[in-house]
Amino acid sequence: MTSTVAGAQPALLEVRDLRKSYGGVHAVAGVSFYARRGAITGLIGPNGAGKSTALGMIAGAIRPSSGSILLNGVDIAGQPSYQVARKRVARTFQQSSDFAGMTVLENLLTARFGQRGDSLWGALAGRRFWASAERELIAKATDLLARFDMTKMANELAGTLSGGQRRLLEIMRALMTDPELLLLDEPMAGVNPALGARIEDYLLDLQAGGLSMLMVEHEMAVVERLCDPVIVMAQGEVLAEGTMAQIRADQRVLDAYLVG
Ligand SMILES: Nc1ncnc2c1ncn2[C@@H]1O[C@H](COP(=O)(O)OP(=O)(O)OP(=O)(O)O)[C@@H](O)[C@H]1O
Ligand SMILES: [Mg+2]
Repeated sequence: MTSTVAGAQPALLEVRDLRKSYGGVHAVAGVSFYARRGAITGLIGPNGAGKSTALGMIAGAIRPSSGSILLNGVDIAGQPSYQVARKRVARTFQQSSDFAGMTVLENLLTARFGQRGDSLWGALAGRRFWASAERELIAKATDLLARFDMTKMANELAGTLSGGQRRLLEIMRALMTDPELLLLDEPMAGVNPALGARIEDYLLDLQAGGLSMLMVEHEMAVVERLCDPVIVMAQGEVLAEGTMAQIRADQRVLDAYLVG
C-alpha cells in the first residue's frame, strides 16, 4: 500500500484511522495524522489521551486493533518492533529503559538489541560478531557521548545517573541505531531546567542534521519552541492540529485540558 502527498514522494509517516482498544477502553479511537520529513512533530494532550499508546503502535511495541501506519508509503501496522526498528524508526520511553547495572557505555553498545530485537545472547556468544562490529559501535558511542557532553560519565553505572542524565542516555541509546525517525515520549519529564534547555538544543541540532521526530511532551513552552506542527489528542482522538499559536487559540483544546 502506498500513499503520496500531492503527487510528491510519500510522507515519512502517515497514520490512518489507528485504533487500540483494551477490553472496553478505547485508548486510541481512530487517529489520523502525518509526520513530515525534517520536522519535529508535537503530540500533546491531557493524561490518558492515548499519546503513548499511539507512539507504541508506531514503534511496533503495541499491536493496533485496526488502522494503517505508513512509513515512506509502506504500511507497517502490526509489524513487531524489531522489524520497525530495521526500517530506521527508533524510540525513547516515557520511563527510562536503560540497564541500571551496566555502565553508560555498555548501555550504548547494547542499545541496538533493545531497539532492533537481535538476540543479545547470540551476540554475547558470538566472538566474530564482536570482532566486526565492536569498533564501529565504540566509535559511534564515543561520538554520541562527546556530542551530549557525557564523556566523563561513560564508565558510570546508569543507575547512578541523575534523572536528566538518564533521559539523555535514553536519547543516545535510540540514536545508536541511526534512525531516520525518532519517537520521543516525554524526553524532558523530570529534567531540571538547565538540562532541559540543553536537551532542547540537542534535539534542534539533530533536526538540523536531518533527523525527523515525533515528540510527546507535556511542557507547552517546550512544544512551542521545538514542534511544528502540533497534534492535540484527547480521549483517544485527534482534537486539533496546527502551529502552537493556532492550537492555543482553539477553544476545544482549552476545554479538553480543563476536562482532562
Ligand atoms: N495496557 C493497557 N491496558 C488497559 N488500558 C490501557 C493500557 N495502556 C493504556 N491504557 C489506557 O489507555 C488510555 C491511554 O493511555 P496512554 O498511556 O496512551 O495515555 P497518554 O496520553 O500517554 O497519557 P500520559 O500523558 O499520562 O502519559 C488510558 O486511559 C490508559 O489507562
Ligand atoms: Mg504517556
